[in-house]
Order: sequence, then structure tokens, then C-alpha cells
Amino acid sequence: MNIFIDSANLDEIKKAADIGILDGVTTNPSLILKEGKDYKKTLKEICSIVKGPVSAETISLNTEGMVKEGKEFAKIAKNIVIKVPMTSNGMKACRLLTKSGIKVNTTLVFSANQALLAAKAGSYLVSPFIGRLDDIGEKGTELVKEIRQIYDNYGFKSLILAASIRSTEHVREVAMIGADIATMPFNVYKQLFNHALTDKGIKMFLDDWDKLQKGLRRR
Ligand code: G3P
Repeated sequence: MNIFIDSANLDEIKKAADIGILDGVTTNPSLILKEGKDYKKTLKEICSIVKGPVSAETISLNTEGMVKEGKEFAKIAKNIVIKVPMTSNGMKACRLLTKSGIKVNTTLVFSANQALLAAKAGSYLVSPFIGRLDDIGEKGTELVKEIRQIYDNYGFKSLILAASIRSTEHVREVAMIGADIATMPFNVYKQLFNHALTDKGIKMFLDDWDKLQKGLRRR
């Protein structure tokens, strides 16, 4: 499973890229607003750090506007993927952008039927929002399971990008289900490396190493 960071914070993206386990980045207007910087400039900076797909979200609600923005954003860098919302206008834009060689990430997917339509429109990435479904009392990861089955049933090539991930448990679950990609906030990414027994084990080895050194010195 590929691991993406859901962030527009350059420090976070640099840190993950430096570790070397970072396959791509997803952004949205809310994340870029949080950084208080220019939209396109931020995307360009992210693309200079990350080789993998970087999702840039369109703002228009009509097809024409989405295609226009998508074509503009695609000029920023080769690895830009255009995010369009899961609406009929969005799916029309998805077809047109895909036809012109621009990859699309269909976002705000909350049902298996929406994911089916996004695949049929030629989406490169399809983003079910897990956490937001959990927020309304549904089980977000169940949706990922349904989409996996539908795509496998019919051999759809669209990649499932599990989004709106809030915890390491979400990451584990979507990896077990077979999502192609999980995009997560940096704080969840960092937690993936941790386990209390790893820390305890390191401490034990270091303590014993110290004892060993002291013992050797006494001889
Ligand atoms: O990838 C989509 C993500 O930014 C939404 O996450 O936590 O706002 O539901 P959240």
C-alpha cells in the first residue's frame, strides 16, 4: 500500500520525504488555507519535494471551470493530479481531463455507487472519506471494503485512496482490506513508527550494553 501525507505543510512533507517512506501528497483548499500561503506556489513547492502524485483540488462547481483550473494546475508540475468532487459535473470534468492526458482524483466519495461512477469516468484515484463517515455514525472502512470488491469484480483500474484517515487503526484496517493508497495527517504518519515494546526493547538493550561495558572494564 502506498503512503501519502495529507498536508500542505512543507516541514511535515520534507520530514517524511527525508525518511524516504512517502509515495505522494494530497492537499485541499482547507489544508493550504491553514498554511496561509499562495495556493499555486504551495503546490509547486510540494512538487519540488515529492516525486509521487500531488493532488491539487479544483474550486469551480461547473465542468468548464473544473477543466480550466485542472489544466492550469497541471502545468505546475508533471506529478500534479487534479482533484474534482464526486458530482455529475465533476465526473464530466474527470472524463475530459483524463482524455486530455491529465490524471484525476475523484474526491468526497461517500458511497460504493459513487466510487463505481468515478471508476467508469476514468478516475486515476478515487478517495473515500473514512473519518467523515465515522463522524456520522457509519463505519468508513466498510465503504473501502465494498469499493475494493466492486473494482476487483470488474477489473477497474482506478486506485482506491483511503482519505480522511484519523488514526493508525484506520491505516491498519485499510491496509488489511487492500486499499491501494492511504493518505493521512503527519501526526498519524509519525505514530505508525511507534510501539511501546519497541521503546522498551531499545531501553533494555541499552541498559544491558551499559552493564556489559562496566563488567568488561572491571576485569
Ligand atoms: O484527504 C481528505 C482529508 O483532508 C479530509 O480529512 O479529517 O478533514 O475529514 P478530514
